[in-house]
Amino acid sequence: MSSIPPTQGVLAGARSRRADFPVAVQFIDRWSPRAFTDEAMTEADVLGVLEAARWAPSASNAQPWRFCYALRGDAHWGGYLGVLNDTNQRWAKRAAALVVVLSSRYIVAPSGEASVSRTHSFDAGCAWGFMALQAHLSGWAAHAMAGFDAERLRALLGVPLAFNIEAVVALGRQGTVDLLPMALQPRELPSQRRPLADSVSAGRFSGA
Ligand SMILES: Cc1cc2nc3c(=O)[nH]c(=O)nc-3n(C[C@H](O)[C@H](O)[C@H](O)COP(=O)(O)O)c2cc1C
Repeated sequence: MSSIPPTQGVLAGARSRRADFPVAVQFIDRWSPRAFTDEAMTEADVLGVLEAARWAPSASNAQPWRFCYALRGDAHWGGYLGVLNDTNQRWAKRAAALVVVLSSRYIVAPSGEASVSRTHSFDAGCAWGFMALQAHLSGWAAHAMAGFDAERLRALLGVPLAFNIEAVVALGRQGTVDLLPMALQPRELPSQRRPLADSVSAGRFSGA
């Protein structure tokens, strides 16, 4: 009997999702694979993805997002990878780039006066969404992670406490399932979503 998994050589995910209502295909075709080829990304590739994030809307146009990145093999790569939890490290080590998404907890007026932002994470989340869609449209894959040691990352990057560390995003070219450790291979599928009706109520809140 062959020990080769049936998925070997296969790019997971093509068109396994259906929308309840018609939407542009990028919204359902984008997903977060863990298998990456060894293709490198250039600085311009990463900046091209972050350019989309730059155009996200934000409260008062405060643009609270900030980004730091490392390219696989550069001087910062080992540090970035090392703060991820063990499971994330097992697949993210093959990514071409790791991007840290941060947000400013304060809005600074032109006068220099700082006020606490209520929306910095919401705004940075939108920027991540734009980034993920641009990556997808450019043929890259983006996979966000909350599984990392935020305090170690803060110290490593010298991030002041006025900034929240939101997520680390792995970027790269999607690879075939067999590039993953066996334990991660069964998870290499686009996830589904609960029905839209379970998230939406007309008028008063009725969700659980
Ligand atoms: C903020 C955030 C944190 C996440 N953290 C992790 C993580 O630590 N490890 C991981 O493998 N996936 C992580 N994910 C990926 C989610 O599990 C994934 O986006 C979700 O299951 C939906 O699947 P899709 O992105 O393929 O549509 C994270 C996603 C987001 C947006």
